[in-house]
Amino acid sequence: MSFALVGLSALALLAPATASIVETAPAAEPFAPDSVPRIEIAPGVLMPAMNFGDQKNHTMAIEQGARGLDTANVYGDPQQREVGNAVRAAIAMGVPRSEIFVTSKIECCPGSGFCGAVQGAALCLTKQNATHNIQHDFDVLGLDYVDLMLLHWPCDNMDASVATYKAMEPLVASGKAKAIGVSNFNASALAELLSRVTIKPAINQCAFSIAGHTGIPYHGLNWGRDDATRELCEANNITYSAYSPLGGWAMGGTSHVLSDPTVNSVAAAHNSTAAAVALRWVTQQGIVAVTSSDNPAHVAGDLASFDLTLTDSEMAALAKVA
Ligand SMILES: NC(=O)c1ccc[n+]([C@@H]2O[C@H](COP(=O)([O-])OP(=O)(O)OC[C@H]3O[C@@H](n4cnc5c(N)ncnc54)[C@H](OP(=O)(O)O)[C@@H]3O)[C@@H](O)[C@H]2O)c1
Repeated sequence: MSFALVGLSALALLAPATASIVETAPAAEPFAPDSVPRIEIAPGVLMPAMNFGDQKNHTMAIEQGARGLDTANVYGDPQQREVGNAVRAAIAMGVPRSEIFVTSKIECCPGSGFCGAVQGAALCLTKQNATHNIQHDFDVLGLDYVDLMLLHWPCDNMDASVATYKAMEPLVASGKAKAIGVSNFNASALAELLSRVTIKPAINQCAFSIAGHTGIPYHGLNWGRDDATRELCEANNITYSAYSPLGGWAMGGTSHVLSDPTVNSVAAAHNSTAAAVALRWVTQQGIVAVTSSDNPAHVAGDLASFDLTLTDSEMAALAKVA
């Protein structure tokens, strides 16, 4: 098993001593304490097993007890500024920076058809290379470091993917990123990357959910949501991370997961909610979840999913939901 859940006492022991912000004050109201289990994704780098992504209000999520924030260049400058502001607001309220975990992502531009489709060619052309994209990320976030920097998706060809990833590697030595990794890499892309880079990716963040984990193509490709990719990650001790764990963006909406009869019957058996069951099905496999919500009650319920323990037969039944 390549995943290790690490308790909060270990987090305190392993918190980086070199953090640039002095961290002494205890968290003050209204911020709920950090209650999320952590997974060690690289030596001494402990990532919350649940993270909150492209949403309007990350301060609210931290208030509810979340500590993992997920952002990316392509989510746009306002979203990235909001994440940086949420981190600063939490620190001002006494939440240690080392307790907050920020994931950001750079894209592969120019030269990626998917990039062009998402952003429009003009933006790709203005972001000339990986170094530019990394600098833009830090400029907008306004943070000294991120905890995790990902290559958001593979480039058009592996030479470009490797070159972009190699531009990220110095971030680890300089302390600008505690760890680096990839996103949307399928098994073949990941295998080639592993053979050509120095720092092994700590994370591969891919679409993964109940009903969305069997390699069903979206945007014409699997983007790493298949068993072969997860098995390669496990064999190489690369932590697999699930975005859209409720079936959101990657499945076109959460309704098919949250209204599924099997999910709801497991939820009823635990006096819980469909969302909590769907998230726990992910995290109980040692997978890092990246969800999103602008509803405080939803965030609180999502974090409370760690109180659930699903039985082996429930896990197996949920895996069969199509
Ligand atoms: N690496 C990549 O290529 C990539 C691609 C897509 C997404 N992502 C990241 O992953 C994040 C999550 O993706 P996603 O939004 O598709 O995730 P998701 O977890 O599948 O869906 C999130 C949706 O679920 C709803 N929700 C959350 N908790 C709920 C609850 N307890 N009950 C009912 N509904 C609930 C939220 O709506 P409410 O606001 O109403 O709660 C939100 O619209 C993104 O924000 C982004 O950061 C990464």
